[in-house]
Amino acid sequence: MLQVVLVEGALLVLFSCLEVWYFVRGALAVVHAWFQPKIWDILTVHSFGSMVLPRDLDQMCHMNNSRYLRECDFARLHFYTQNRLLLALFQLGGRMVVGASTIRYRRSLAIWEPFEIQTKILGWDEKAFYVEQRFVSKRDGFVSAVMFCKQNLLDCSPDKLIAFLWKRRMESPELPEDVKHWISFLSANSQTLRAERQLTRRQE
Ligand SMILES: *[C@@H]1O[C@H](CO)[C@@H](O)[C@H](O)[C@H]1NC(C)=O
Repeated sequence: MLQVVLVEGALLVLFSCLEVWYFVRGALAVVHAWFQPKIWDILTVHSFGSMVLPRDLDQMCHMNNSRYLRECDFARLHFYTQNRLLLALFQLGGRMVVGASTIRYRRSLAIWEPFEIQTKILGWDEKAFYVEQRFVSKRDGFVSAVMFCKQNLLDCSPDKLIAFLWKRRMESPELPEDVKHWISFLSANSQTLRAERQLTRRQE
């Protein structure tokens, strides 16, 4: 009896302090991807299936807007496991973080709607991979949302990672026009914030 109470207590503490399902789904994505055929081409479009569940809904009864980014995390984790990027990065002692992301919502995803996230590396520079993730409805193939992500590498670089995985140098493909605009927006914004900081420093 005491054991049951202790286990229940421990679970209660765990579930109230941590977003447990996030970690469970992340782990499941990695394990599932591990048993899938490896992806050898870095420019492959990767597909990750999912569905809108009642927990994803907001007061408008469609998928909650932050839920999209959460699903993107699982899709990228699956992708990076299947193309061995995650393991290679780990072996090289690097880490990765999301440096920026932007998302466009084009059409709502409704309850029980099956969709697929198509993830693709569009290109890279000295610091980051630029990744596109599309939410494609399985009902009619419409792109319901599209997300762009700047995947920064820390203590490593895309060139180093690619050389380690493929034993050769690879040029980044030419980035699409819209992504180039997004990248200039990011550096403009970075300059604004830096200038602001210098101004406050000078006033101090
Ligand atoms: C929307 O999704 C986020 C991320 O999963 C969650 O933290 C939040 O509670 C959700 N909001 C609603 C209204 O469901």
